[in-house]
Amino acid sequence: MTELRFDSAAAQEAAVDVVIIGAYSSDESVPVIPESASGVNAAFGGELSARLAEIGHEGSASTVAKLPAPDGLAANSLFVVGLGAQDDVDTEVLRRAVATGVRATFGRDTVAVAVEGDDEAVATGASLGTYKFDDFKTDEADDVPPQSVTVLGTTAEVVSRVEALTAGVFAARDWLNTPANYLRPPMFATEIERAADELGLEVETLDVEALKTGGYGGTLAVGGGSEAGPRLVRIMYRPDGADKHIALVGKGITFDTGGISLKPPQGMWDMKGDMGGAGAVVGAILSIARLGLPINVTATVALAENMPSGSAYRPGDVVTARNGKTIEVLNTDAEGRMVLSDALSRAAEDEPDALYDVATLTGGAVISLGARTMGLMGTPAETARVQRLGDETGERGWAMPFPEDVKKNMESSIADVSQCAQGMKRDGHMLQGGIFLSHFVPEALPWAHLDIAGPADSDSAFGYLVKGGTGFPVRTLVAVVEDWLAEQS
Ligand code: BES
Ligand code: MN
Ligand code: ZN
Repeated sequence: MTELRFDSAAAQEAAVDVVIIGAYSSDESVPVIPESASGVNAAFGGELSARLAEIGHEGSASTVAKLPAPDGLAANSLFVVGLGAQDDVDTEVLRRAVATGVRATFGRDTVAVAVEGDDEAVATGASLGTYKFDDFKTDEADDVPPQSVTVLGTTAEVVSRVEALTAGVFAARDWLNTPANYLRPPMFATEIERAADELGLEVETLDVEALKTGGYGGTLAVGGGSEAGPRLVRIMYRPDGADKHIALVGKGITFDTGGISLKPPQGMWDMKGDMGGAGAVVGAILSIARLGLPINVTATVALAENMPSGSAYRPGDVVTARNGKTIEVLNTDAEGRMVLSDALSRAAEDEPDALYDVATLTGGAVISLGARTMGLMGTPAETARVQRLGDETGERGWAMPFPEDVKKNMESSIADVSQCAQGMKRDGHMLQGGIFLSHFVPEALPWAHLDIAGPADSDSAFGYLVKGGTGFPVRTLVAVVEDWLAEQS
């Protein structure tokens, strides 16, 4: 694991393997070296712009040029990362560019980052850029992340805040990347308990017996097809002096075969990531606890493996959720909403001030919004809050409606609610999920549902993302909790 550091040295003084600076693009295809890197420019005789232009580096966002360091730089190499036009630089441009620069240093030992702009964004990009998942590689790789990344010109406070934030992101990424045979529900529960214990947080795990006693019919139905039984895990963060209480709920399907309504083989391997909501929610509470935010937070995650077998639930079954509502099952592949019906019901029993659930719920969210934007549903103020803060963290979301016609399709003739639209109509596919979930959230409770089926994982490296788990939307959830705190004071 890379150590994140801070230092007050100037870029030209950093005695590291690689020093990274930024450069802006201009109208003339020649990059602009920022004033803050004038010491580095001086080591190139003031000709750094021209040198970069010669090798075709124009300062476009997230492009990296690698140069041997001349005399006058204490580092061995200089990496220049493009920031695009200076007027367009925002925190997301910085995070992406810095992370791309740091990823380009893999295989080198020590790195310093001297990119100007918002401190937290630069440090976040630096930290996220160090991520690599190699738990299952037995060969010694040569592109290992650097031992240390020093962010120049920042403070101890920013570095420790960013470490707290990215620890949650990395936990969420690691869990998503872990193959389903290493993360079946009982194992995942144990891992969550271990992570919570480390920070002294209270955890409670309900096993199959406890789920039966508690009437968690949705979770038992989905988990019933697997030999590795379901679990409901709750983490309680209760700092001194806290007043408000935020509930986080996550979908934790450790593998989704679809069950009896079996998925086609093509792409099924991706369904090891169907616990991304649970991983993110746990990651977020870990970050919140590390930050010591003075607010009560409870994370509730429902863990199950959706398998076809002689003990699996069937289309046509009627299942009773924790809050007593009956559900007509139409498709066992709509399992996320089944386990969430219980987790939402349980979370609401604590009477929190607001509830946010996160789930890789529907392929419809990916069809409508693409792979990098989450779909938002819920009460208007909360979806707006998540969308606004997601824009700031770079974890984009878009609020979706609750149309009458889609609601109408979710009425069941034999149970309180239909799991999917009657006749499995595809109309408003993502919306069906959110409408179903609303039956398990008290009407007056501020609530947002975050459908992360698209952004939970990435099929390639991009900015601060690498192929696999993204840790989306851990940083947004932390921002949401901080927003509640800011409102209070
Ligand atoms: N886990 C899937 C949704 C999903 C799809 C996540 C693609 C990530 C990428 C979910 O359990 C599912 O199977 N949803 C069905 C619902 C349908 C049966 C009503 C879907 O989206 O098709
Ligand atoms: Mn499914
Ligand atoms: Zn699923």
